[in-house]
Amino acid sequence: MFAIEVKNLTKQYKNGVKALDDLNLTVKKGEIFSLLGPNGAGKSSLINILTTFYNSTYGTVNILGKNLSENPHFVRNQIACVAQQVSIDEHLSLMENMLFQSRLYKVDSKKAEERIKKLIDIFDLSNYLKYPVSSYSGGVKRRLDIAINLVSLPKILFLDEPTVGMDVESRATMWKMLLKIRDELGTTIFLTTHYLEEADFLSDTICIMKKGQILAQGSRYELENYINQNIIRILFPSTEEAKKYINTFDTMFKAKITTLKNKSLFISLTNNISSSFIEINKLLLNNCVNFIGIEIMKPSLEDIFLIITNSNKYKMEGEKC
Ligand SMILES: Nc1ncnc2c1ncn2[C@@H]1O[C@H](COP(=O)(O)OP(=O)(O)O)[C@@H](O)[C@H]1O
Ligand SMILES: [Mg+2]
Repeated sequence: MFAIEVKNLTKQYKNGVKALDDLNLTVKKGEIFSLLGPNGAGKSSLINILTTFYNSTYGTVNILGKNLSENPHFVRNQIACVAQQVSIDEHLSLMENMLFQSRLYKVDSKKAEERIKKLIDIFDLSNYLKYPVSSYSGGVKRRLDIAINLVSLPKILFLDEPTVGMDVESRATMWKMLLKIRDELGTTIFLTTHYLEEADFLSDTICIMKKGQILAQGSRYELENYINQNIIRILFPSTEEAKKYINTFDTMFKAKITTLKNKSLFISLTNNISSSFIEINKLLLNNCVNFIGIEIMKPSLEDIFLIITNSNKYKMEGEKC
């Protein structure tokens, strides 16, 4: 049985916008599943339907084997959802927030005590117990918000862009905690993100979506094989020097994707990697090209994402995807 099974899901808003368009996906129990897509892809619309906040226009959703529209109460009891806005009560202390949640979900007081202790440990919150919640930084508030939502020990935790706006350090701390939740509590985690490195670091399964549709779903390894791409990187002494050869390689491999980043050209090739490697080396040497090094690389998640979403052909240094 899957934790989540979505079939032919469509969501059209009253204003006519089709946020989800015949979408299918499955989430396994106990995994971290990342829904990766640019702004406006439909990530929040999907999470709002899965967590019973919105109705769908068409399609079926099964959560832990039960139909969502027929069993909304069952589903609400099994899940927790942490939205982008923090929802803790700043007039209460950390402990009061936790206890309030445990009473709301009618958790037996002995059990609640154990769970709260464990959550404070997982989320590294013990140093904050004596300070008022209103004095916490944004990152710590977000951690507490997730910890509170876990007091009821939900089977599935939904997180909509959990690290948006966080600095690098808070983001790394949050990632460590999400892995701990999966490993120590066995919670299935469904998160949305537009950060490639977040999906790459955390996920057992990555699902790439755009314009309300799923373009690909699988482990990092499966996505790598799915795109069947190898990358040759040539490092130049400067960006200007690298730029000169974009067209040369595109012509040589007939409209393959050549991208420029960090003074390097990245050439994506689908097959015959070793013969292409020799061909490129010959071209570089025969034309006395001023380059520093050449190597065959595995595609990064960014390469995979760009190929799958068929984004702009030339991704120049400093540009956002
Ligand atoms: N409540 C709403 N009413 C009308 N259109 C909406 C609503 N929520 C989202 N949309 C539209 O649906 C599309 C998908 O939005 P959203 O699900 O928020 O994407 P994401 O979370 O990936 O950024 C966008 O075009 C957005 O403008
Ligand atoms: Mg969103």
